[in-house]
Amino acid sequence: MDSEAQKAAAGRAAVDEVREGQVIGVGTGSTVNHFIDALAERGIRLGGAVSSSEATSERLRGHGIDVLELNDVDQLPVYIDGADEINRHLQMIKGGGGALTREKIVAAVARRFVCIADASKRVDMLGAFPLPVEVIPMARSYVARELAALGGQPELRRGFTTDNGNVILDVRNLKIMKPIEMERTINNIPGVVTVGLFAQRRADLLLLAGANGVEQITA
Ligand code: A5P
Repeated sequence: MDSEAQKAAAGRAAVDEVREGQVIGVGTGSTVNHFIDALAERGIRLGGAVSSSEATSERLRGHGIDVLELNDVDQLPVYIDGADEINRHLQMIKGGGGALTREKIVAAVARRFVCIADASKRVDMLGAFPLPVEVIPMARSYVARELAALGGQPELRRGFTTDNGNVILDVRNLKIMKPIEMERTINNIPGVVTVGLFAQRRADLLLLAGANGVEQITA
């Protein structure tokens, strides 16, 4: 199975985590797109979905799934999303698609976070994938200097604006030994909206697709 087929397998497996009539949270990215398509194929009728990006909202609506405002929903039983990297504690780097802020908000509301990923996403230490940081545009240079002081090499994601009107700095060469501390430290830099480290709110279940099928991993 190549990585696209693995993403599709993980997406299909996630459908079993959802029940008819539920209002669920839905992340962003190519793996999640497979999940949305699989939901529709299986004919699961949701009460609706809270989406983490404009791209996901469009895909959900394309399949006739109602997209609800988070402010109109008190709780979500489950949030389904992919990751750019995930470690054995089910802590993640996310935001390769730039949707990290809304993803973190929707994940915070959900009772369970189910991460769906192909085998390439599983790592021993987070940080080989450049860490995305969403930043208020006027703070870009200041935040970049602060991230450099932490040992990283920030680079502006060119030609990209988030759904919230902000910019992304992708930070290379960070060895993230203590993800929770690093998440807090970067979140504390004025001008940072969100860091793409999901360590304080990690996943509860990982559906990891590999050559031999989909493995269920809990932390
Ligand atoms: C989107 O901002 C990201 O957090 C995605 O969840 C992540 O990039 C995974 O994307 P793929 O499923 O496309 O690999």
